Amino acid sequence: MANVTVIGAQWGDEGKGKIVDWLAERADVVVRFQGGHNAGHTLVVSGKTYKLSLLPSGIVRGTLSVIGNGVVFDPWHFRDEVAKLKAQGVEINPDNLHIAETCPLILPIHRDLDGLREDASGAGKIGTTRRGIGPAYEDKVGRRAIRICDLAHLDDLDMQLDRLCAHHDALRAGFGEPPVDRDALKAELAEIADVILPYAKPVWLTLNEARKRGRRILFEGAQGVLLDVDHGTYPFVTSSNTIAGTASSGSGLGPSAAGFVLGIVKAYTTRVGSGPFPSELEDETGQRLGERGHEFGTVTGRKRRCGWFDAVLVRQSAAVSGITGVALTKLDVLDGFDEIKICTGYRIGDQTYDYLPPHPQDQAKVEPIYETIEGWSESTFGARSWAELPAQAIKYIRRVEELIQCPVALVSTSPEREDTILVRDPFAD
Ligand code: IMP
Repeated sequence: MANVTVIGAQWGDEGKGKIVDWLAERADVVVRFQGGHNAGHTLVVSGKTYKLSLLPSGIVRGTLSVIGNGVVFDPWHFRDEVAKLKAQGVEINPDNLHIAETCPLILPIHRDLDGLREDASGAGKIGTTRRGIGPAYEDKVGRRAIRICDLAHLDDLDMQLDRLCAHHDALRAGFGEPPVDRDALKAELAEIADVILPYAKPVWLTLNEARKRGRRILFEGAQGVLLDVDHGTYPFVTSSNTIAGTASSGSGLGPSAAGFVLGIVKAYTTRVGSGPFPSELEDETGQRLGERGHEFGTVTGRKRRCGWFDAVLVRQSAAVSGITGVALTKLDVLDGFDEIKICTGYRIGDQTYDYLPPHPQDQAKVEPIYETIEGWSESTFGARSWAELPAQAIKYIRRVEELIQCPVALVSTSPEREDTILVRDPFAD
């Protein structure tokens, strides 16, 4: 069995798009299993740029693409994303795209609530994408979500809407907002149902059949391990489990289906939104990393915070997610630095840590312990073999591997697909 699960091993935006596309070409099925349209995956295929938020990356190449039950699904965003991609010439139909019937819907009231809470939180805000992700997951576990399969039973929707709206009306009243316009919501759902239902399938069945026939399944994670609701920098996290284990629960396959777990790791660290970031650089060096790395969010356009590579966090991500090997991206952004620092531990007062303590106050207080290594002046941009890398860059990669206790399987040296150094083929394992 040669399945691959790709996940971000930092705070998202590690460059998963290119790696997923590279692997998708050799996969039979590509599956999204968590998150929603808060993700931003940019693919460059034959010189054309595609921006995906909700759809699995395989769709661009016509590979069977699946949205699993673990995803929260905004049907109106779906309609618009499909229309945009079709306008770029991408073929999308119910044969090459299957969506789990059990996906909970993101509704306009979830978007409202996300924004209202963020606006009311002042300095304590999470910095969400305001796309309703958190409120939609809350309604899922609160057992009052409207799911895709409910769109096929519009006559039965009233009781569900009663429960859902009673909850939201109380929350909205707290923000001085009017109650939900229940009739308008029902009418909007009735209107969008015909767009969604042709794609709605028992995807657990499709995937189990594919697995029995020995098809290669690629699980495409969104966000990153440090944004995981259990293992991340809580409460500054997203509302899903972003670790590789979710590939199973979020798609309807058993835990052994994950296969090779490929953690995507940027050669430095970035974060969008609020929350602790021990190795953050609020100086010229951070500025330089941001400019060289074009660090602006794909979904929100926000400037990303930048800092040195944090080996403590990636080691922790690799452990909690069972990462088999990592893909190191954006190495070229470090070209030309005289010195490069790697965070190897933390200190609070006299106490040192080799992991990130869980309490937000401790996380905000930790001081990084750095190891400094000599940089390189040569360009690594576009390198396709070890021989093309300067000796110091190789030394950096080897040190990263040692510190995170995980081997490098791939090195990406530019946004172009071919500019990749392959050490170990995840699908060949
Ligand atoms: P939410 O997922 O919109 O609720 O946002 C929660 C946190 O996750 C915020 O800090 C967002 O910036 C972050 N986040 C959500 N999706 C992504 C992503 O795809 N890349 C990076 N950060 C993300």
